[in-house]
Amino acid sequence: MDFRGAHILSVKQFEKADVDRLFQVADSMEPYTNRVRISKALDGAILGNMFFEPSTRTRVSFGCAFNLLGGQVRETTDVKTSSISKGESLYDTARVISGYSDVIVMRHPKVGSVDEFAKASRVPVINGGDGPNEHPSQALLDLYTIKKELKANNRSIDGMRIAMVGDLKHGRTVHSLSQLLMLYDKINFTLITPKELRMPEKIVSELKAAGHDVLETEDMEAGLNDNDTVYLTRIQEERFTSKLEADIYRGRFRLNKAIYTRNCQPNTVIMHPLPRDSREDANELDNDLNQHPNLAIFRQTDNGVLVRMALFALILDVADKVDDSARDVGWYTEGRFS
Ligand code: ASP
Ligand code: CP
Repeated sequence: MDFRGAHILSVKQFEKADVDRLFQVADSMEPYTNRVRISKALDGAILGNMFFEPSTRTRVSFGCAFNLLGGQVRETTDVKTSSISKGESLYDTARVISGYSDVIVMRHPKVGSVDEFAKASRVPVINGGDGPNEHPSQALLDLYTIKKELKANNRSIDGMRIAMVGDLKHGRTVHSLSQLLMLYDKINFTLITPKELRMPEKIVSELKAAGHDVLETEDMEAGLNDNDTVYLTRIQEERFTSKLEADIYRGRFRLNKAIYTRNCQPNTVIMHPLPRDSREDANELDNDLNQHPNLAIFRQTDNGVLVRMALFALILDVADKVDDSARDVGWYTEGRFS
């Protein structure tokens, strides 16, 4: 695909070569995320960061990524404080914000809302999550992380084994990640969910039709066996009709040190898109794994900045110019990020 000026709405847009190009650019962003170099490649550009649903890392990391390329960020953080609460349409909002910005990131609770917004926008729009549908930039950073983590174990994505655990019905990150993994060969998916929260049938059939192995199970301990990666997810309470309904499933599948040690391979990488639900009745990923070397959750969040910088650099066509305007950061202190 041609990234220049493109909307990023779904992982279905990408071919393997696009992902390779994006990851190559993401690798080149390390001196900037590590604060060794500072770039002005997007000097004068403005990101409209429009979040109509709660977010910590997607909103902030897209903002940081834009800042690290020298651009400015303007944002909305929820519906209540935006004029959508006065009845303004997505069409009008998109027309207005695209007059103020050079690129927009948009998150909204309704499936298809970002596509609708993009149709009205005069500048490229990136889907920051549209309801339970998709979260493409998360899938890209997850895949980037998987690639790096597996490489450290001398493994590649082709032929990998991944267990996805939790609310696979509403979890947009697993919808996007599993569809992105379809670009690779012979992936083995173990989908561990309560039967009411299974991965949408359409995605499961597509995975099977593309030649991947899919096992759906409610038996977590057996399902955890023999995987390169275990990818946990939170029960998506906001997608249920009531908290009570979400409570039925909360806390049903948990990973802690004892369960990990008993069932996983010694090098199984532990991932989660975050936020993990750390309340006692949920706790799908226990704090007792915090010091475990295979816990990649904060490597995922760090990688998110690299991947999001790469997206901006390619969409706004400055990928080859990032270093031209760059200089060393005077205040960098070695070891700041250890
Ligand atoms: N932060 C991710 C998302 O917005 C995952 C989650 O909220 O559970 O989809
Ligand atoms: N992973 C993710 O999308 O996190 P936020 O919901 O905090 O943005």
